[in-house]
Amino acid sequence: MKYLPLLFCLSILACREELKVDYEAQKASVFPQAAIAGPHPLATQTGLEVLRRGGNAIDAAVAMQLTMAVVFPRAGNIGGGGFLVYRAADGETLSLDYRETAPSAAKRDMYLDTAGNVTEGLSTRGHLAVGVPGTVAGIVAMHERLGSLPWAELVQPAIDFAENGYRLSESEIDRIKRYHADFTEFNDFTPFSDSTLGVGAQVKQPDLAATLSRIRDLGHDGFYTGETADLIVTEMESGGGLITHEDLSAYEPKWKEPITKAYRNYRLISMPPSSSGGLALAQMAKMLEPYPLEEYGFQRVRSVQVIAEAMRRAYADRAEYLGDADFYPVPVDSLLNDAYLLERMADYRTDSAGTSTDITAGQVAMKENFETTHISIVDSLGNAVSITTTLNGNFGSKVMVDGGGFFLNNEMDDFSAKPGVPNMFGLVGKEANAIQPGKRMLSSMTPTIVEKDGELFMVLGAPGGSTIITAVLQTFLNVAEYGMPLPEAVAAPRFHHQWLPDEILYEPDALADGVLDSLEALGYQFREVNSMAVIKAVQVLPDGSLQAAADPRNPDDDVEGY
Ligand code: DON
Repeated sequence: MKYLPLLFCLSILACREELKVDYEAQKASVFPQAAIAGPHPLATQTGLEVLRRGGNAIDAAVAMQLTMAVVFPRAGNIGGGGFLVYRAADGETLSLDYRETAPSAAKRDMYLDTAGNVTEGLSTRGHLAVGVPGTVAGIVAMHERLGSLPWAELVQPAIDFAENGYRLSESEIDRIKRYHADFTEFNDFTPFSDSTLGVGAQVKQPDLAATLSRIRDLGHDGFYTGETADLIVTEMESGGGLITHEDLSAYEPKWKEPITKAYRNYRLISMPPSSSGGLALAQMAKMLEPYPLEEYGFQRVRSVQVIAEAMRRAYADRAEYLGDADFYPVPVDSLLNDAYLLERMADYRTDSAGTSTDITAGQVAMKENFETTHISIVDSLGNAVSITTTLNGNFGSKVMVDGGGFFLNNEMDDFSAKPGVPNMFGLVGKEANAIQPGKRMLSSMTPTIVEKDGELFMVLGAPGGSTIITAVLQTFLNVAEYGMPLPEAVAAPRFHHQWLPDEILYEPDALADGVLDSLEALGYQFREVNSMAVIKAVQVLPDGSLQAAADPRNPDDDVEGY
């Protein structure tokens, strides 16, 4: 038994030579048996190898997440957190919350100055921005419960990439260069020093390989205790961070009932709190169900208006009521109640724009993109996996654990630092999402699985901060209401309303032919943006084959399958 991982590793290496390790990622394809959509070709190809070797969708997801921690360091991670939504071939559904937690020394007002104002940058950059990472605990837990191949075999491909090297993609080189000054500001050494950064250069990450080897050999304990934990705590102490050994050993991922909601003959299965994604998605869908969207037409005045109004209402509820349900009594049932949601649209008028409030929140930054990862997988047995993980910003807090070789998240910014003060996505919150030790910060990540007539229909999700939830909604509606093929549904330009700021963000090609002018005349404010969430999805076609679609918005997005 002892030598099995080695044998597997040798066979993987042999197989890797056959891999088309290139960055001409394919954005869409139909596969007869199994399909993956993900943010990076080396990760999707690793997932495909695992599936071909008889691994299930969870096995592929385990190998992919760890591979992304190496080859996609701006977002792939072991220093962050994430969510799994799972639907087994027999229809059983589960979700796993491995979101970061606030360290035990965290305080509600930790980002406020003596005058009670939020100190710019404290929750987004550097050691104080870091939440207790959940990714490794989550990956171990999903493997223990649902995986089929031995753990060590699934960790090995990531170690191989870190040890033997891999070629950085152009977009990764671009990001690393862009954040070079931050890297030097928050580290005593320079992660990814410039000499490695030519196109085609092989990058090796020996410290990360050693960390991953400890995770391979010791599982959960390889990260949360022993040498890796020592390195994290030393890093925290060197930069004024809060995470202790006790915080690390206390971290636990949580299995939860997914949020489910019927929409016509579909059923949405998505992430419960500590994400707002599933709840807000379900709310928007239910609010929209009575309206004939297909008849209104794709991105016509009536459809954009009613969808934006549903978005506005869901995000208003998000700001008031949503947070970690283990710390705050989130009224999940009331918020999902059909009568409540129908009533919510009672004040919707077609002849004028509603107003969110007189209070103006800050501008949504929306200048960055792709700092989160999503993978959608359907295996040959029909098991479906939807996973979104994140460091929050590009390279998270920009702090790399010295000697550990991995970046730490800046997820603390997803808490509401002060009631009504927007975070980096312009989102506001209140008591429900206030900072408390051990609490999970509210997320917008929306890993989702959709059934149609009781059968698996679609797996989807995205990075993209606050725009994730509305992107998942629109991609689903594009298929279910507007009859678009999946690649078109994913690529179609989108819009976004998040209650505050009171404006509709839209991509350059969205809302053509006077739609925008007509809605402006009703009082809506618009702002064009260049970045929105980046969807990766798989759809079961009527003949049972699998359409995988990645997003042209990210050059490295890729689909694989067989
Ligand atoms: O959990 C959240 O909602 C955010 N931390 C996700 C960040 C994100 O998607 C960044 N990508 N653009």
